[in-house]
Amino acid sequence: MTAITGAATVAGVAGHPVTHSLSPLIHNAWIAAAGLDAVYAPFTPPAEGFGAFVRGLRGGAIRGLNVTIPFKEEALACADLVSEAARLAGAANLLVFERDGTIRADNTDGVGLLGALSAQAPGFDAAAGPAVILGAGGAARGAVAALVLAGAPEVRIVNRTLARAEAITGMFGDRVQAVPEEWIAEALAGAALIVNATSLGLGGGPGPATPLERAPSTAVVLDMVYKPLRTEFLQRARAAGLRTADGLEMLIRQAAPSFEAFFGRPPPLEVDVRALALTALGEQP
Ligand code: ATR
Repeated sequence: MTAITGAATVAGVAGHPVTHSLSPLIHNAWIAAAGLDAVYAPFTPPAEGFGAFVRGLRGGAIRGLNVTIPFKEEALACADLVSEAARLAGAANLLVFERDGTIRADNTDGVGLLGALSAQAPGFDAAAGPAVILGAGGAARGAVAALVLAGAPEVRIVNRTLARAEAITGMFGDRVQAVPEEWIAEALAGAALIVNATSLGLGGGPGPATPLERAPSTAVVLDMVYKPLRTEFLQRARAAGLRTADGLEMLIRQAAPSFEAFFGRPPPLEVDVRALALTALGEQP
């Protein structure tokens, strides 16, 4: 490991809790492989104190922050400059602190989603057909924003609480629709992509009760849940003969543009951060 000097670039991740974040593992493995004089640390601001924490960093005390639950919406509100992806997602997972005091906000979750799809379902084209998003929380909204920006002809949001799905559609126009749960089979018609953006399946329970056998055989299924890696939902997708992409790949691929924003170069390719993350999750690499 390269020594950390007084000139080191400092970045990190802020969440509450942040203990289980894989971001320090991923970024520090990249830092070590690239031989950078840099460090990536976890931060736990008080749940009510994120704004004060960020204000204290203005002016470049550290280079940047990834932001996770529950601070992504507040992070957006703290920024002076907001990317289109962050604005549409209504949330930021990346803050960069410029020396002149400016705070820039971006959201790289969409890059992660599309990157995981192109890596694990080669040839996937978001523009090829409708996307079905299961869930209507922050993760779902981020996915909707990414797919709209990527040219999906239609995005159908299916959620237990229809009003939350409707609240997302408002800002996107006709291409994005809210669909009641009982119409899930109809929502799958012609789908190019089905994304689990609910918390169902986390920790090993059953995923969404989506009738995946009704989806076109060409549909790709992505699960944002990555604990366990092979969720019940992804297992059912495979059993239905569908191609799949997993939440860990999405996590790693959202980290890459953050690394570049912090350290001014893309992550080195020679370190297998997926294998490291799988070991940390107790999965077989
Ligand atoms: P995040 O910001 O991570 O997306 P969230 O805002 O808590 O988290 O959203 C969780 C999503 O999982 C919601 O879409 C939620 O549905 P509701 O809006 O109806 O609450 C969905 N979800 C969680 N538990 C669920 C369950 N048992 N059945 C169906 N949907 C569930």
